[in-house]
Amino acid sequence: EVNEFFSTELLAWYRQIKRDLPWRMNRDPYRVWVSEIMLQQTRVDTVIPYYNTFMNKFPTVKALAEAPETEVLKCWEGLGYYSRARNLQAGAREVTERYDGIVPDDKASVAGLKGVGPYTTGAIMSIAFNRPEPAVDGNVMRVLSRYFCLEDDIAKPSTRVSIEKLAASLIPEGAAGDFNQALMELGALVCTPKSPGCLPSCPVMEHCTARLEGKEHELPVKTKA
Ligand code: ADE
Repeated sequence: EVNEFFSTELLAWYRQIKRDLPWRMNRDPYRVWVSEIMLQQTRVDTVIPYYNTFMNKFPTVKALAEAPETEVLKCWEGLGYYSRARNLQAGAREVTERYDGIVPDDKASVAGLKGVGPYTTGAIMSIAFNRPEPAVDGNVMRVLSRYFCLEDDIAKPSTRVSIEKLAASLIPEGAAGDFNQALMELGALVCTPKSPGCLPSCPVMEHCTARLEGKEHELPVKTKA
């Protein structure tokens, strides 16, 4: 059915076109964690050089935990939202003290780290540990709102919760990390906010409900905060 089609085609598409991004070199949970924090409010192209510098300077949880905060903030200069850097270092110190420097592989422990919210928890669990957890950000809410023609306001917490359940149900067996990154990639490269590039690029457009109904520009519905 259309759900199966979506998962299968999206995953196959991602495995063909995925970009060689530095945080995709391996599944080291620390590398995934740093990348997801940097990517929260910043675009991929901007993040790449900062990410490489940061990982060279602080290659492990322990290195980040032990660094002076001023050194960490210096590496973040220009990225903005500096509380991200402070929280990330606080999280690294928590991992060092509580878990001997090893990022824990259970959801509750990850979710309890400073600066790690529901999205980042899902991203770390799925990308680093391949656990079937959803990682729903604005891109993912847009993609799923369109494909399933969901007209609920994505600014409402209840809508996010229902989209998280839907996203979880779509994860193909054993492919959580790739599938979640495929959703992000589709939102970033094809199913963009203003002029979605359905033709010729979208691997799932033939069953995209919004497109079939001519509503892709009207979705997602989002009220201003
Ligand atoms: N945006 C958020 N997480 C990402 C990831 N892992 N790859 C590419 N873009 C992203």
